[in-house]
Amino acid sequence: MLSLARSSLRPSLSRAFIASGASLHTLPPLPYAYNALEPYISEEIMKLHHQKHHQTYVNGLNAAEETYAKSDSTREKIALQSALKFNGGGHINHSLFWKNLAPANTDGGKLADGPLKKAIERDFGSVEDFKKKFNATTAAIQGSGWGWLGFNESSKKLEIVTTANQDPLISHTPILGVDIWEHAFYLQYKNVKPDYLNAIWNVINFKEAESRLLEASK
Ligand SMILES: [Fe+2]
Repeated sequence: MLSLARSSLRPSLSRAFIASGASLHTLPPLPYAYNALEPYISEEIMKLHHQKHHQTYVNGLNAAEETYAKSDSTREKIALQSALKFNGGGHINHSLFWKNLAPANTDGGKLADGPLKKAIERDFGSVEDFKKKFNATTAAIQGSGWGWLGFNESSKKLEIVTTANQDPLISHTPILGVDIWEHAFYLQYKNVKPDYLNAIWNVINFKEAESRLLEASK
């Protein structure tokens, strides 16, 4: 994977990185095949989303970090903040998103009895009410963004929150994140965001979400 990310950077940039000892971010492999989430998320979407969109955030983050590391101008470093946030957030969010999903014939869509289910029932009344509230909240995002099930460290409760653009979730520990950018659904669901949101529950990896909750509640 390293070679994939490296090859897409300019050779001079890649050499400068290696010389400076900075670590290159790389595109993480998908933990399942591109067609494994069908019929809920098409192979075409998964390929483009992973190979093109996520790769672009990785490249942008490497370029911004490299420029930042070489710069001795405070002004230039401040100007780089938005590129770092956008591409860094894009890389973090998508890395999490792939692990949030699983094929429906393996773990996808199955919320077994356990700490996550209990916490959802405690904080939202029922699993169905949670899904309804999550879908309504995320469908209402204006423009591009992310819908999250987050763990509030202060109240020790699960909450539904949204972030705009590629902003990562900072206020809460992310337990589950859903990409609400059009590139995540438009080729298959066109402008009908609620259909995408209804379908995605069939491939949500609740096991992964539960392990994040357990880690966050330690
Ligand atoms: Fe995305």
